[in-house]
Amino acid sequence: MYSDLEGKVALITGAGDREGIGFGIARALARDGMEVVFADLPGMDAAGCCRTLREETGCACSVQPLDLTDEASISECASRLAERYEHIDVLVNNAGIFPRQQRVGDMEDALWDTVFAVNLFGPFKLFKQLLPLLRHKSSIVNMASRAGKRHLPAMPPIRPARPGWSC
Ligand SMILES: NC(=O)c1ccc[n+]([C@@H]2O[C@H](COP(=O)([O-])OP(=O)(O)OC[C@H]3O[C@@H](n4cnc5c(N)ncnc54)[C@H](O)[C@@H]3O)[C@@H](O)[C@H]2O)c1
Repeated sequence: MYSDLEGKVALITGAGDREGIGFGIARALARDGMEVVFADLPGMDAAGCCRTLREETGCACSVQPLDLTDEASISECASRLAERYEHIDVLVNNAGIFPRQQRVGDMEDALWDTVFAVNLFGPFKLFKQLLPLLRHKSSIVNMASRAGKRHLPAMPPIRPARPGWSC
């Protein structure tokens, strides 16, 4: 338990999947008394995840639709957050995709671009849009992957996309 998190606001991207790491992070932060904002693709069950945590922990939480491949969606998400919150104390850039392909040469260009959009450029754009809500002591947590350090043949685009977080 971290008592200094009580009453603070966490925005977690990609937290609308009950089986995913993002939901686990949301649950841990809610148990520490944080208000949690679930930001995920509209088709995900962010609202259901939010309800579950509210029942489990009594936390305050909300849902913001977000598609990290779409600048308008990022911008709309940031605007809605600014209407509702004075600041974001913790931003967890958890959303990520890791398509499994056998060989780089078999990949469609669009898929390569999407991996970079979700795993690297989207979080950067979101961060810029959220700057007015981030305070000097706000924390930003970027999910990385060992696939960013070591070549994993089945996940070719992850290798160049993930080290962006290590720079
Ligand atoms: N699971 C692992 O073994 C593992 C290992 C290393 C790193 N990671 C990283 O941890 C993070 C979470 O992994 P996970 O296994 O829980 O993944 P997951 O696939 O269960 O969840 C990913 C989440 O990202 C969301 N997402 C996908 N595209 C999006 C988009 N365009 N805009 C907004 N949200 C989008 C999905 O809807 C989903 O909720 C990812 O960044 C992943 O790369 C996972």
